[in-house]
Amino acid sequence: MLLCMLSGLLIAGSAIAQSAYSDADAEAARQLVKKRCAKCHGNNGLGVSDDYASLAGQPAEYLLKQLFNFKTGQRRNAKMQAVAEKLTAPEAYIVAEYFSRLRPGFTPSSDELAKAAGRKLYFEGNVDTGVHNCASCHGVYATGGGTVARLAGQNPVYLETQIRRLIDQSRGNDRSMHFINAPLSPTEIRNLVIYLAGEE
Ligand code: HEC
Ligand code: HEC
Repeated sequence: MLLCMLSGLLIAGSAIAQSAYSDADAEAARQLVKKRCAKCHGNNGLGVSDDYASLAGQPAEYLLKQLFNFKTGQRRNAKMQAVAEKLTAPEAYIVAEYFSRLRPGFTPSSDELAKAAGRKLYFEGNVDTGVHNCASCHGVYATGGGTVARLAGQNPVYLETQIRRLIDQSRGNDRSMHFINAPLSPTEIRNLVIYLAGEE
């Protein structure tokens, strides 16, 4: 009896999970992306130039949080605030799911020294200057999760810009990153970016 009830619950649970993002939602998201996002982020979510973030493979929850942060003005960017303002909550939900399921890109580099230094910093931080390691939040493969951003394969120019904005606090939508990035030197930022952009 208990088993029946449990399996009934599980079936009901998976039906809910499936109905939360259906094939029809995926198609609606694809059309929405084509009309309202692709000009800057591409249909593949990789960004049409260095000015635009790569969204492919970012955790859906992280994307959704950013869209709401732009909508409320907690995260500032004129182009994205204008886009986010027009998105309804259900639209934001389906596009976040859509981009999270696309294949991330990556930008390889042959600068082995920079990559090794970036990797070391990512996993160990810098105890001398008080830089926290990044892996404890962003994960061993830098894929993020939940509301923590994916960094692996992100566009290098965008990554560097965001690290600088988190340091000077012009990006103020999440205070957990401020103190963490504060002691990074310009060389450390460069090494981290080369390492992260090249990770698949
Ligand atoms: C006119 C260009 C433009 C359009 C159209 C556009 N974006 Fe953006 N988007 C940007 C720019 C520029 C940034 C980087 C903002 C910054 O520097 O903080 C960005 C950043 C983002 C981010 C944050 C990414 C991260 O890693 O934190 C999300 C999420 C996002 N866009 C979603 C969307 C969605 C969804 C659409 C379509 C509904 C869309 N954008 C349409 C220009 C655009
Ligand atoms: C305590 C947890 C934590 C640690 C440690 C941490 N981060 Fe983050 N990071 C976050 C969270 C949470 C976000 C998303 C912030 C938001 O909502 O805008 C983020 C966002 C970022 C972003 C913006 C990504 C994007 O797509 O716009 C970059 C870049 C970044 N972190 C780099 C780093 C680097 C480099 C390190 C190590 C030196 C680091 N982080 C350490 C939690 C952390």
